[in-house]
Amino acid sequence: MKPVEARPVRVALLGCGTVGAQVVRLLTEQAVDLAARVGAPIELAGIAVRRPNKHPGIPAELLTTDAAALVASDVDVVVEVIGGIEPARTLLGAALAAGKSVVTANKALLAEYGAELFTAADASGADLYFEASVAGAIPLLRPLRESLVGDRITRVTGIVNGTTNFILSAMAATGAGYRETLDEASRLGYAEADPTADVDGFDAASKAAILASLAFHSRVSAADVHREGIAAVSAADITAAKLLGRTVKLLAICERVTERDGSESVAVRVHPAMIPLSHPLASVGDAFNAVFVEADAAGQLMFYGRGAGGAPTASAVLGDLVAVARNRVIGGRAPRESAYAALPVRPMGQTPTRYHISLDVADRAGVLAQVAAVFAEHDVSIAAVRQEGRSVDASLVIVTHAASDAALRSTVDKVAGLPVVRKVVSVMRVEGEAP
Ligand code: NDP
Ligand code: HSE
Repeated sequence: MKPVEARPVRVALLGCGTVGAQVVRLLTEQAVDLAARVGAPIELAGIAVRRPNKHPGIPAELLTTDAAALVASDVDVVVEVIGGIEPARTLLGAALAAGKSVVTANKALLAEYGAELFTAADASGADLYFEASVAGAIPLLRPLRESLVGDRITRVTGIVNGTTNFILSAMAATGAGYRETLDEASRLGYAEADPTADVDGFDAASKAAILASLAFHSRVSAADVHREGIAAVSAADITAAKLLGRTVKLLAICERVTERDGSESVAVRVHPAMIPLSHPLASVGDAFNAVFVEADAAGQLMFYGRGAGGAPTASAVLGDLVAVARNRVIGGRAPRESAYAALPVRPMGQTPTRYHISLDVADRAGVLAQVAAVFAEHDVSIAAVRQEGRSVDASLVIVTHAASDAALRSTVDKVAGLPVVRKVVSVMRVEGEAP
């Protein structure tokens, strides 16, 4: 291999946990190849952590608790794998203001303060790469930002949280308990430092905001995303889905919506949904992620792979690091973010969805008619009904056609109050089928 003689690209690594430790390993093990690919050696100048005595195997002289000083030192690139908003926001702001390239895996920060970071990057001409922030190892953001930039994306539907997919897959396959599966996901390094970010849908909502911003050239932040987690998904929901040839997944859905007057908006939501077993996302198990992209000219595209875990995520971080290091060696910069379309975000209540509703009702004449009347009153059309009589009560399952989410919610509320309805067993949205 030809020796590389250019000045080293000096890197500050912020964080050395699940992802950071794997970044250090890959940087060390692949140093020679990476230098050849970049055209200059990549030199780790320092690693900022909170507890320097908790990192056996990492050269002590590289560790520091003074992340700000490390960022301000003579480094060219800052790689951030701390997570959360502060101190990451301040540190990356300082790096970009000083013209240093930034690579980050931090979706929470990007989904809340992305605009601020992109503005800082534009002002100094620095690179800001964040492939690892959505769907771990899967090359997804660069295809959206670069390969598909000539197309018109209409919808992005993804399983983008490994922890919840791990839990739902285990619940469906073995009936495993929620708590034990979550503990296993944490042990394997999939879950966030605070796993409620995973199970309550915050992590997926941040990723949905990033995906929608790139897909629709608009600024979408985490606060714009309708969010529901998996805590309310019960064994009954999963059984109900199985009976209908469906499975339950936590989906991030980003849609371009054309209004009656021809204007456009975007609807971005994260919630559990039943999808048919024949849908490409239904077979995505374990902690895998998959993102289904629909575009006018390209048609349907599926991106699949490991969305969490130290080594897979470090792969995406290293890919970004090589890209920004090359840009520094050769000169040049990544394509700018584009938010020119500035599409407004449609409220969830106005977003068309479909519901699957499972009820325990009294088994006597006229009950079905009473329930159906509530649907008609709210202008919600019923697509399918299945009733199974028991002794004194019956199980009634209703699947609707598409209606506004607000109308569907009001329908469920009113049905729940009918004297003939003993219990609302399960309510879940249905996706991946003709409306
Ligand atoms: P960890 O919690 O495992 O690691 C965080 C690291 O940051 C630790 O080394 C910690 O130091 C360090 N740290 C925390 N606070 C500070 C601080 N104030 N100053 C300096 N260092 C600090 O997180 P992960 O590696 O799992 O995640 C890192 C980022 O990558 C997050 O943004 C996450 O969302 C993202 N990500 C994670 C994936 C995964 O599968 N884990 C997948 C995709 C993205 P110490 O160890 O000394 O406490
Ligand atoms: N906690 C996240 C997950 C890590 O489970 O998908 C990847 O972003």
